[in-house]
Amino acid sequence: MSTIPQHQDEQMPLLRLNAPAPYFEGHSTQGRVRLSDFAGKWLVFFAYPADFTPVCASELVGFEHHADQFAALECRLLGLSVDSVYSHLAWCESLREHFGVSIDFPIMEDVSLQISRRYGMVHPRDQGEGDVRALFVIDPRGILRAMLYYPASTGRSVNEVLRLLQALQTSDRQHLVTPEGWVPGEEAIEPAPQTLAATEARSGLNYGCVDWYPYMRSVSEGPKFGGSGVSNAKL
Ligand code: BEZ
Repeated sequence: MSTIPQHQDEQMPLLRLNAPAPYFEGHSTQGRVRLSDFAGKWLVFFAYPADFTPVCASELVGFEHHADQFAALECRLLGLSVDSVYSHLAWCESLREHFGVSIDFPIMEDVSLQISRRYGMVHPRDQGEGDVRALFVIDPRGILRAMLYYPASTGRSVNEVLRLLQALQTSDRQHLVTPEGWVPGEEAIEPAPQTLAATEARSGLNYGCVDWYPYMRSVSEGPKFGGSGVSNAKL
C-alpha cells in the first residue's frame, strides 16, 4: 500500500522549474527513501527505462564512475525504474560480476508508476512504447532546478550532468549566468542590466563589456576539484 499522499494530481503533471519538486517515497536498493531525505544536499534523480538493458547499464556504470565528483559537489545520486527492487538487486549483482562496478547509490522501484507519473515520465495514453530517460536536478531546498528528457535509444552524458550541476551552483553562489558550453574555470556572464543607469555604468568598462548587455566576468572561485570536473571514464 502506497504511503504517497493522494492530494497530488495523478494526471500527467506540468512540472515547473523553480517550483518544489514533486514528493516521492518508496523502496530502494538501500531501503526506504523519500524526497525529504535529501534536504540540504543537491540531488540528481534519474530514471531509466529498464533493468538488464545495455544503454541503461552504461549509464549506471557511468554515474558510479563519477560518484566521487558528485559527492564533492554535495550532490547525491538516486536512480529509478519501473522494475522491482528485487530486479534492481539482481542487476546490481550482475553489474558487479561482469563490469566490476558496485552501484553504491540507491535505485528506487516504481512498479506502480506513481512516481513516474508524478514526474511526467508516463503519458496518460501511453501504451508502453514511450520509454524515456528522464533526469531531474533538485536543489538543497527541494526546488526542481533542471530537467533532461532523452529517448530510450540515447544514453545520457554524465559529464554534461556534472557540468549542468556546476553551472547551477556557480549561478547561485556568484549571481552569474553561464554561456554555451561553459565549464568551471571559464568566464561567465553578468546578468543583463535592468535599468538605464546600470546599462550606462557598464558602457565605460574596458574589460568584459562587449556591449551594454553581454558582460563577461571571471568566476572568483575555482572548481571544487581539479580541472573541469569532467572525465571520460567509460563502461
Ligand atoms: C537500453 O538501455 O539499451 C534500452 C532500454 C530500453 C529501450 C531501448 C534501449
